[in-house]
Amino acid sequence: MSNARPNSRLPGFYRAPLDERQAELARQTGLSPDELALFTSGGITPVGADRMVENVVGIYALPIGLGLNFQINGVDRLIPMAVEEPSVIAAASNAARLVREGGGFVAKADESIMAAQIELREVADAAAATAAITEAREEILAKADAAIPQLVEFGGGCRDLEIRPLSDRRLVVHLYIDCRDAMGANTVNTVAEALAPRLAALASARIGLRILSNLADRRVVRVSGRVPFAALAGDKTVAEGEALAQAIEAASRFAEDDIYRAATHNKGIMNGVDPVVIATGNDWRGIEAGAHAYAARDGHYKPLSTWRVQSDGLVGQLAMPMAVATVGGTLQVHPGARLALRILGVTSARVLAEIIGSVGLGQNLAALKALAGEGIQRGHMALHQRAVSRT
Ligand code: MEV
Repeated sequence: MSNARPNSRLPGFYRAPLDERQAELARQTGLSPDELALFTSGGITPVGADRMVENVVGIYALPIGLGLNFQINGVDRLIPMAVEEPSVIAAASNAARLVREGGGFVAKADESIMAAQIELREVADAAAATAAITEAREEILAKADAAIPQLVEFGGGCRDLEIRPLSDRRLVVHLYIDCRDAMGANTVNTVAEALAPRLAALASARIGLRILSNLADRRVVRVSGRVPFAALAGDKTVAEGEALAQAIEAASRFAEDDIYRAATHNKGIMNGVDPVVIATGNDWRGIEAGAHAYAARDGHYKPLSTWRVQSDGLVGQLAMPMAVATVGGTLQVHPGARLALRILGVTSARVLAEIIGSVGLGQNLAALKALAGEGIQRGHMALHQRAVSRT
């Protein structure tokens, strides 16, 4: 296991040949070249793949690159990003350098709370059912814990219960479970199935669906980042940096006003989020579903981040669900995903969520800066051209 504390500020890294970049990664992380060699084969073998899913005929690979310059809650992180789109990693690294000049990203993740949904149908009397379930709250929470003894042993367990009325004589009961460092899908579904008969009996109802919700709105990561005007200006004047900050705020307000723009704004955030979620073996479909449902939670689809000019710089804020794991699931069977976690130096799901949220906010800054300034095509097409000319 590596204990090295990497420096994520590696000027010239992008210009170095591939083998030198690999050697630098080994130096920064204390990982051996043998360990890193996993990434030359996509992190899994065909035999390993055969144990993961059905009807396997091989492995499909993505490039994995390092997002640089990230400082998150005062700690430098090298960010493994698995992605096919040119310019994403360069843009993230660029934005992280600017935010670093403002003190780095500040991020805080909620506890790892997921909701089990138990749908109750043909409820005879919604008010009486709600009263009966509320009355039995402590018994229900205890029964839920009894269904997941291993998680309880690790400090997790069922924390709360909520009853939501739906149309057509239905109620849905949410059981909120602290999944600690796991994503929690299996645990949450186990609880949903174990508790459904008791809840249906209390409500004099029929059992409907029993499954987790991907709208993990009690498992949100909140990130902020500040960029001083001088950093935004680069080799131009501070006044030009401030003008660019105003243009980035205007781009944010466009997304806040218009769903068509909000979708693309959020796509830019997911350009940063998904590559880290994928590299660390997490469920990116769940993250995507949760992100967009959260963006529309008040009935209007909104951007997941906003940017405002303040007296001393441009400040961005992001909030989104981030149900990611550092144990269980894919991590048990994908050595490449475990290696990515070691490069990041994380063992806690909440720290991983804070890192991923920060990459999302950084990626968003890079996109808005390009759009508000020279336009996206120049930088994007230069890198795209480089990719094509190497084929
Ligand atoms: C392209 O992959 C992502 C962007 O469209 C995001 C945005 O418009 O904010 C550049």
